[in-house]
Amino acid sequence: MPPERGPAFAEVWPAVDAVGGWLTRDQAQLLWDAVRAVDPGPARVLEIGSHRGRSTCALAAARPDVDVTAVDPFVTTRRYPGPSVRLGLEATLEALGVADRVTVLPVPSAQARRGWDRPLDVLHVDGKHDYWTVSDDLHWADHVVAGGTVLVHDAFSSIGVTLALLRHVLPGDRLAYRGRVGSMARFVVARPTTGDRAAMLRELPWWGRNVVVKVLLRLRLRRVAALLGHHGRDDPY
Ligand SMILES: C[S@@+](CC[C@H](N)C(=O)[O-])C[C@H]1O[C@@H](n2cnc3c(N)ncnc32)[C@H](O)[C@@H]1O
Repeated sequence: MPPERGPAFAEVWPAVDAVGGWLTRDQAQLLWDAVRAVDPGPARVLEIGSHRGRSTCALAAARPDVDVTAVDPFVTTRRYPGPSVRLGLEATLEALGVADRVTVLPVPSAQARRGWDRPLDVLHVDGKHDYWTVSDDLHWADHVVAGGTVLVHDAFSSIGVTLALLRHVLPGDRLAYRGRVGSMARFVVARPTTGDRAAMLRELPWWGRNVVVKVLLRLRLRRVAALLGHHGRDDPY
């Protein structure tokens, strides 16, 4: 995409980074690049799990002709105060000047999918991470056009997400694995080759290591986690 159609990622990243969340800089760039690569535009994007908008901003700021649907029920849990998360998302989108590019759907992803009939170019899956919800969320990929992109956060760092990918994507014939940035996996809508499937399987040792690291962090054994190459108190993303 020609640069005159939007700012450079590096210019926008500080504003995105100011939003709380778990997305790394390189993962934000992966989202950004996927949106920029849509040709011709406008880019039609759907995100499952927007939270305060860290990833939503990366998607929406990538180009002016983007139409982002942000699906999040903003549930209140021990970790997330739902209503204030939603207010935070909306304020952030306004502050970044991208609110008019984003439609917020404050419902669970399964509910949003009922009756959905619009094609998508980019799908970002980062909602509830249990096996059943992710299994259901992967059906959203049916709406992504051939050659479109599906990005799955925590693809190889969460038991539920990884099991859903192994059960539904690995033996499937619709999504081809194209690698990962940290735990964010990139798939394209294309018939996968044996090599694509093998590449997914080769991530399993890294997934196992991340699950062990998460257990060690819960047990406050950061020094042991460091022996596995993980530093800091955050989970591997
Ligand atoms: C890990 S956070 C998303 C982080 C966000 N992508 C970011 O970059 O900061 C997961 C989000 O999924 C949302 N969520 C939970 N259940 C959901 C569902 N059924 N459908 C869509 N989103 C859901 C939660 O409310 C939460 O905001």
